[in-house]
Amino acid sequence: MPQSWYQNAVFYELYVRAFYDSNRDGHGDLRGVMQKLDYLQFLGVDCIWLLPIYPSPLKDDGYDIADFYGVHPDYGTLEDFRELVEAAHARGIRVITDLVLNHTSDQHPWFQAARADRNSPYRDYYVWSDTDQRYKDARIIFLDVEKSNWTWDEQAGQYYWHRFYSSQPDLNYDNPAVQEEMLNVARFWLELGVDGFRVDAPPYLFEREGTNCENLPETHAFLKTFRAFVEQINPEALLLSEANQWPEDVRAYFGDGDEMHMNFHFPLMPRLFQALAQKDRTPIVEILARTPDLPPGCQWATFLRCHDELTLEMVSPEVRQFMWDFYAPEPRMRLNLGIRRRLAPLLDNDRGKIELLYSLLFTLPGAPTLYYGDEIGMGDNIWLPDRDGLRTPMQWDDSPHAGFTAADVTPYAPVIDDPVFGYRQVNVARQMADPHSLLHTIRDMIRIRKAHPAFGEPGLTWLPAPHEVAAFLREGADETLISLNNLSDRPQRVQLPSGRFASLFDGSLIDGAYTLPPYGHWWGKVVA
Ligand code: GLC
Repeated sequence: MPQSWYQNAVFYELYVRAFYDSNRDGHGDLRGVMQKLDYLQFLGVDCIWLLPIYPSPLKDDGYDIADFYGVHPDYGTLEDFRELVEAAHARGIRVITDLVLNHTSDQHPWFQAARADRNSPYRDYYVWSDTDQRYKDARIIFLDVEKSNWTWDEQAGQYYWHRFYSSQPDLNYDNPAVQEEMLNVARFWLELGVDGFRVDAPPYLFEREGTNCENLPETHAFLKTFRAFVEQINPEALLLSEANQWPEDVRAYFGDGDEMHMNFHFPLMPRLFQALAQKDRTPIVEILARTPDLPPGCQWATFLRCHDELTLEMVSPEVRQFMWDFYAPEPRMRLNLGIRRRLAPLLDNDRGKIELLYSLLFTLPGAPTLYYGDEIGMGDNIWLPDRDGLRTPMQWDDSPHAGFTAADVTPYAPVIDDPVFGYRQVNVARQMADPHSLLHTIRDMIRIRKAHPAFGEPGLTWLPAPHEVAAFLREGADETLISLNNLSDRPQRVQLPSGRFASLFDGSLIDGAYTLPPYGHWWGKVVA
């Protein structure tokens, strides 16, 4: 079966507000992204994923939507959006947008009407209760801030249900009108030209007493309806879902190939960092062994970092503690059940470790997703609230505000300006000019990855090797690829399977055995 476009795509997640400010108001905007498409094309990504761009009070950076049919005025207009999609398409780049099904902002007119009047048809768009004792088995996700999933609303005279911030009331999917509304939203954006959606927080759509209110059969039934609807409008459209669950629970989100096309592999992500910290591939081997096969036409989305904290929800309490101790020694680095740091600071800005994790990302099964700024090794600012420190302005050059906005404008958030990660050291212009920069290395990795569709195929074969090494074969219809990755700070000798292997980077040949330098990686293909 031929691969669908997303199965071997490289995704690039970007926060429009943080990317480039074209109109000098301190906020990045859609026209700014348009002006930087050349850069994204240079990098070689296939699809950009835009964080929410809708009108919003931005209490959760746009995941609190006040109008599903518009663009936040700071970011531009619907017309700008349409033009951005066209300009991206002209360069062979697709565009997917975040779609938040589970909740709205409390500023959404539906919620305003619902809280104001018990008899409003919108009352039943949300989940209300006279007590805060229902659905006690549902966990609290933003547990550093929220003490309950219920919040009392004075005006409504009832409690309302919310899985995230109290400013994000959950929609009531038991109401067919809500389901219908969200299908209409999807249609609107598909007709504007988007190539699909990153489906935010799908596990929580329904609530049922006596359950943890996640992954319920009703939720899957709705998502199947949603998929069929989307497919009918655009058979090529992608649904990339964010079910942060164990592999066996995520499996249901793919259905029989009739639900979500992709889902992020949340359990794999922290294990890549754990394996590096422990110099041992075992956590990766175990989680992939526990990862079920997917139906045809489906794919995992893999990632190292994203706009949220590095979540440790999908590891045991012991491993979580280990990861906190190792990667988040300062209390400010921790958030909820995770770590609010970017890739380069997590890895001590060590080029070898950074490249090694990218090597795993690009050669393990799944379609890789990069987070804006991580391709140049941007830093973070743990002193900003919530996850804001991971969402600072993109560092384009060493001019004031990193070239993100005009010199005389105050950006929406302070640009990183410390001695190691500051914009004078870490910026796109400087790395463009240096063929040995991280940016050029990542670009090479993307090019090679895309030249070998076998990387987009499912499954891998582990090779015998010291436990410090992750060595595996990836098999495609036309070629067999090999990836060798040294998770340790010492050279490691790997016995190769019989045959000869040609480097995908420079064509050099190896056979017999190969010694990887500390944190070294080697990608090749079987030639004989
Ligand atoms: C998802 C998003 C996160 C957001 C939350 C609530 O987990 O990734 O940023 O805060 O949903 O919408």
